[in-house]
Amino acid sequence: MTWPVKKWTFQDRIIAPSLLAADFGRVAEESSRAINAGADWMHLDVMDGNFVDNISFGPALIQAVHETNDVFLDVHLMIARPDHYLPRFVAAGADMITVHVEPEAQHDVSKTLAAIRAAGCQAGLALNPATPFEAVVPFLADIDMLLVMTVVPGFGGQSFIQEMMAKVQAGVKHRSSNSLSYHIQVDGGIGTHTAALAAKAGANVLVAGSSTFGAADMKAAITAIRDA
Ligand code: DX5
Ligand code: ZN
Repeated sequence: MTWPVKKWTFQDRIIAPSLLAADFGRVAEESSRAINAGADWMHLDVMDGNFVDNISFGPALIQAVHETNDVFLDVHLMIARPDHYLPRFVAAGADMITVHVEPEAQHDVSKTLAAIRAAGCQAGLALNPATPFEAVVPFLADIDMLLVMTVVPGFGGQSFIQEMMAKVQAGVKHRSSNSLSYHIQVDGGIGTHTAALAAKAGANVLVAGSSTFGAADMKAAITAIRDA
């Protein structure tokens, strides 16, 4: 893996376009296009057709992006056995690896988070819209990022679920009362308007797929989300 030159903190606003919305026929060029348009991180949605009802891509494609660009690779694993596949995503060049807390992801959450950090990566923990904030609380001292899903995972282009902002606020409150420093990421349905709502609630990492890769002017779209 490549160590990121910049040390990102939760005080940074970070825009992470999701490659899921890119043209899959030219993925390497698409990642360059996003970086030239101002992307801070690249968000990579890995889906196994088991944890979610869709199949996207795996380590080989992530490695191709890694070999093309030196961007921070934010890998979101929507897979049933993140523990089993972890070494392959580390080898592919992941900087952040996020796993889900739901029981359908059949792994020992604490052990997987520790294994991610032991491999030299940052560890993220995600929760679905139906999962209460309490489910992640036991792990918050051991993560680098909390991912609050703002859509049911599986597909791009869905509508932002505003009720999830309560979980973002709970994450902020827990972070400050326990002197922690994890990022709070939102993922799903982020555009200019919803980015403002998420940022107001306290999210600092904004994932955006269709609103960035699908925009006529990607640079303007990323700038608008950053300034929202
Ligand atoms: C959903 C993925 C998201 C998705 C976001 O399962 O985790 O990252 O690509 O796409 P948009 O921004 O189009 O909602
Ligand atoms: Zn994602």
